[in-house]
Amino acid sequence: PGPKSLEARGMEDNLPVNVREYQELAEKALPKMYYDYINGGAEDEHTLRENIAAYGRILLRPRVLIDVSKINMSTSLLGYDMSSPIMVAPTGAHKLANPEGEVATARAAAACNTIMVLSFASSCKIEEVASSCNAIRFYQLYVYKRRDVSATLVRRAESLGFKAIVLTVDTPVLGRREADIRNKMIFPQPGNVVDLMSLDNDLGAEGGSKLEQFARETLDPSLSWKDVEWLKSITSLPILLKGIVTAEDARKAVEAGAAGVIVSNHGARQLDYAPATISALEEVVKAVAGAVPVLVDGGVRRGTDVFKALALGAKAVMVGRPVFFGLAARGEAGARHVIEMLKNELELAMALCGCRSVAEVTRAHVLTEGDRI
Ligand code: FNR
Repeated sequence: PGPKSLEARGMEDNLPVNVREYQELAEKALPKMYYDYINGGAEDEHTLRENIAAYGRILLRPRVLIDVSKINMSTSLLGYDMSSPIMVAPTGAHKLANPEGEVATARAAAACNTIMVLSFASSCKIEEVASSCNAIRFYQLYVYKRRDVSATLVRRAESLGFKAIVLTVDTPVLGRREADIRNKMIFPQPGNVVDLMSLDNDLGAEGGSKLEQFARETLDPSLSWKDVEWLKSITSLPILLKGIVTAEDARKAVEAGAAGVIVSNHGARQLDYAPATISALEEVVKAVAGAVPVLVDGGVRRGTDVFKALALGAKAVMVGRPVFFGLAARGEAGARHVIEMLKNELELAMALCGCRSVAEVTRAHVLTEGDRI
């Protein structure tokens, strides 16, 4: 069963006005198994709800009578300019949402002049994505049991002009996503990694989801700080560590030579009851103490969420599900519209808070629960 696009249903004049509406359209457009895979989180989905709810508990402190006739949202990361601090998070298998898959997403990112992080589980070949547009791309990697596969992927990414490696460190084993288990989730398209490992795409799982079995066979639970050293030794690209939510690990990441830290709980798909990322951000920012940029992802659904993340010290945010929902509803145009809506909302929040540039967004513009106690 393929997703039905919005256009196919004659609704192009009636575009969604926010991310939530895109989510509703995506739910209608996608087979349940795919929607659940995209939307779902680990176990009780406590962290999934918290990623969003915690943003709701942070209030804004607007400043008035400041000339906001010109707002500049642009920023840069590792020397690469972006039109706003809103990036595309690595999420796997975009062909589940649209036949053009990651190529469509990359074009949307390029049109919005932002950075896309391509997932290891891309359903389009890395080469295809690289040649489809001139978006700045980072490549997301796991360290596999088979180090040669990880090394090959890094070399491919390097030679195709990817600008950084995003090493996901919160997945030594796969979190328990019960919807996928219940639905016996399978991926219809073989991805890059399946190709490389010469794995049979029909992994023949019994009971659990095939994703679980794939993870068991490939992910290395012995992953440690030594592997970060190893990765540094095989590439000259900067390495960002994705999946850090504590000050302790943030300090270690800087010591290990990470070029950036991404506060993430994998969209609440790994450890349930891990903290909401916006709640963990400030602790990490303090520990990193400006040594490297700190990014955050998880639960960003509004421009005001982006504003709050900036105020608490993030250099930029990444969005995962919202882009996926846009892609499912309207293909490339939908993914692009989602990013543009978030940008417009951020611009509005900045104007109403009296901030003319991202540098002017400060800690004093937000009130967290901690501040109110
Ligand atoms: C992910 N995420 C993810 N992360 C990663 O490092 N590699 C991956 O392949 C994937 N795949 C993936 C698939 C899907 C469907 C989702 C929803 C998420 C996590 C992702 O990069 C990011 O951390 C979260 O999506 C951020 O949360 P929001 O924006 O989805 O709330």
